[in-house]
Formats: sequence, C-alpha cells, structure tokens
Amino acid sequence: MTLLSRTLGSYETTAVGLGCMGLSIEGKPSRELAVQTIHDALDAGCRHLDTAWSYYESGGPEQTNENLVREALASWKGPKTEVLVATKVGHYRNFTDGKPTWGVDGRPENLIKRAKESARALGVDAIDLLYMHRPDPKVPYQESIEAMAELVKEGVAKEIGISNVTVEQIDLARGIIGADLTAVQNQFSPIFLDSRDTIKHTQETGLSFVVWSPLGGFRRPKDDTKFDSFRQVAQAHNVSYQEVVLAWELAQGDHVFVLPGAHRPQTILDSLQAGELELSAEELALLG
Ligand SMILES: NC(=O)c1ccc[n+]([C@@H]2O[C@H](COP(=O)([O-])OP(=O)(O)OC[C@H]3O[C@@H](n4cnc5c(N)ncnc54)[C@H](OP(=O)(O)O)[C@@H]3O)[C@@H](O)[C@H]2O)c1
Repeated sequence: MTLLSRTLGSYETTAVGLGCMGLSIEGKPSRELAVQTIHDALDAGCRHLDTAWSYYESGGPEQTNENLVREALASWKGPKTEVLVATKVGHYRNFTDGKPTWGVDGRPENLIKRAKESARALGVDAIDLLYMHRPDPKVPYQESIEAMAELVKEGVAKEIGISNVTVEQIDLARGIIGADLTAVQNQFSPIFLDSRDTIKHTQETGLSFVVWSPLGGFRRPKDDTKFDSFRQVAQAHNVSYQEVVLAWELAQGDHVFVLPGAHRPQTILDSLQAGELELSAEELALLG
C-alpha cells in the first residue's frame, strides 16, 4: 500500500508517522508487542518514526525508546534507508511528589552530550532529524539553539527541528540555524487548538509542522465532547473518528505531518489510513 507522502526538509516521508513514546514509558506494552507495533506500521508503509532521548520510565534506564527503535529497525526485513527516524534532546525523566514527570535541561553542553548518545543508541553516524525537545526557561533560547546548529556542523545531525515553541522562538531559530532548520513539532488536536499561529507561520516560512498528541494524548480524562463533530463525519465515511481527526489535521496544509501514538498494531494501522481520507469543504467547515 502506498500512503500519502510529503516533503520534510530533504526527506520524502509519510504524512502519518508513528509516535513511539507510549511504547516505552509508563503504561508501555510488552517488548514483543512494542516491536510488533513498529514492524506492522513499517510493513503497512509508514516511513516516519518519532522517538526521544527521554522516552523511558522515570527511574528506569535511559533511552529505552531509542534502543527499541534501533532494535525494531534492525530486525525489520524492509528498506530501512527509506525510514526517517527523528529524535529529540533536552528532556529527562524525573519524579515530583512521587509521580513521574519530565525535567528540562537546555544547557548547550547537555544538548550536545545527549545528541551524541542518541546517535549511538540509534546506531547511526548522523541523526536524520534532531529536535530540541522544549525550551528551558533557565537557559537563554539562543544559547540552546546555537548548540543545535553546532550539532549539524559536527555531523551529529543532518537536519534540526524545534518543539514546543512560539512564533518568536521559530524566528530566532531560523536566524541561527538557517536552512538546516526544517521542522517544528507542536501539540495540536481538537482539544488543543492554540498552535494555529505556528501552523500558519511554518507554512509561510517553508518549514514542516509536525503534530504531537494529534488525538489529544493517551491519558484520560479529556473533554470528549470536542470530538463529537469528528464522530459525526466518521459515521458518514464509515471510518474511525480518529482517522477523521488526523485527516482534518493533515488538511491544515501540505506542510503538516501527524504522529499518532499507539500501544498496539491495530491503532496505528487504522491511523495510517488517514492520509487517504478526503474530507469535503463542508466537512472541514463543520470540523472548524
Ligand atoms: N514533542 C513533544 O513534546 C511531544 C509530547 C508528547 C508526545 N509527542 C509525540 O507524539 C506522539 C503521540 O502522542 P500521544 O501518544 O501522547 O497521543 P495521541 O497520538 O494523541 O494518542 C494516542 C492514543 O490514541 C489511541 N489511538 C491512536 N490511533 C488510534 C486509532 N486509529 N483508533 C483508536 N485509538 C487510537 C492510542 O490507543 P492505544 O493505546 O490503544 O494504541 C493511544 O491511546 C508520541 O508518541 C510522541 O512521539 C511529542
């Protein structure tokens, strides 16, 4: 099956990628099921995997998701060089009041050290697409971004992305990284619409916009009424409402990519169909 493909920097890759986070953080499936989920996604034509240095359980061994992705690719029989593997640096896992949390460390020396560890865990000389995971309020953003630019010069990363950013931060990063900055990864979904300004700005500036938690995240509760109109459209097409959500996000522009997460093959196999789902102008107007 050929899935909808779009241009991200120098890559031609599927508009629907697999967000691998849930496969190795709290609530993860068995290792076997995690590998099966990645293999089935790749077998179905998915060519974009999203991981991060920090996708491991708080208190557990670091980089487990990057190791999982490397192992799953190594044991996959398909064309590995077609797969865009993106990772991120700048976050780490922690505990707050005994609960697992995410810490942020955007110091240049930390970003450089973690990026080299990411390349090693992924088993590559140069990372296809390396994001700075989140701005660190303790570190001037410019300093973090200069380190990301340095990682391209050093050959640790081929292209750079930034994540969880504002329009102003995008412009600052463009000024420092130049053409090697190719992607912005922000949250967007029916329950989180605040990113419309960055979707527009990335389109105007020739960057790709990659959507995280495109289905509103895997944690409950969330305001389910926000999905009512998507359920209505889904009924008419006889597809899942999740497919309609992803198709609506992809319809925001040709520069948009989505990264649905999955804990099992069934959900990603369904999500991968979203690129083929065409929504009418009336349906898009209803969905907002
Ligand atoms: N840059 C960042 O700061 C950042 C932050 C968060 C996430 N991310 C990225 O975004 C990815 C996705 O985020 P996420 O997992 O939080 O949220 P999500 O993709 O919005 O939601 C995942 C949940 O949706 C369910 N699902 C997926 N496709 C489905 C389908 N077709 N039908 C029914 N249910 C479906 C999954 O079910 P099952 O559990 O049953 O499989 C899972 O529970 C992450 O893996 C990560 O790569 C990035």
